[in-house]
Amino acid sequence: MHLRPLTTADLPAVVELERQCFPNPWPLSAFRRELADVATSYYTVTIDEGRLVGYLGARVIQDEAHITTLGVDPGCRGRGLAKHLLLDLIDHGLSRGVVRLTLEVRDSNWAARKLYESLGFVDIALRRKYYQDPVEDAVIMWVHDLRAPEVHAAIEQVRAGMQPAGSGEW
Ligand SMILES: CC(C)(COP(=O)(O)OP(=O)(O)OC[C@H]1O[C@@H](n2cnc3c(N)ncnc32)[C@H](O)[C@@H]1OP(=O)(O)O)[C@@H](O)C(=O)NCCC(=O)NCCS
Repeated sequence: MHLRPLTTADLPAVVELERQCFPNPWPLSAFRRELADVATSYYTVTIDEGRLVGYLGARVIQDEAHITTLGVDPGCRGRGLAKHLLLDLIDHGLSRGVVRLTLEVRDSNWAARKLYESLGFVDIALRRKYYQDPVEDAVIMWVHDLRAPEVHAAIEQVRAGMQPAGSGEW
């Protein structure tokens, strides 16, 4: 298994996976628009034996990264794929001077909220009825400073529990 940048050739597979991950998935045009903004977009995919099984998207603007989407093939969940994608974004961000991370997540999405919390994200606000189908509030989560000792420690604890990319199954 390995990570690599998302290319336009991956878009049909990403759109299919997005449909499996979200009740109101982004259409192909939304991914195309994101990729077209080469100055800010950071999109990565996880490949397992030639098959696309995970993806993460973010916008990196100055010292802030906004995570726009994250999905893992239902058959591959619970194996650390999302953690690898997020650690890769964090490393990329840190190398470019990113200090803050932000995202929105469905209030009821406990799996994702636990994942983000483990990496130092905290809830900072609720955006009422942000999502449709079904209507639901968004929790806005935030890492205020990637360099803060407690955030750094959380990230390194997650990293320490991972198989490094390129070894074993990866
Ligand atoms: C959320 C999602 C991306 C997690 O992907 P994943 O590859 O299974 O996650 P990982 O294996 O890296 O798990 C990382 C952590 O997430 C949390 N987590 C993941 N699945 C969980 C579950 N079913 N219940 C509780 N916590 C869970 C745990 O904290 C886990 O760490 P642990 O294994 O040390 O306990 C995946 O479930 C998914 O694609 N969901 C649908 C799309 C979605 O909700 N995206 C996020 C939108 S904001």
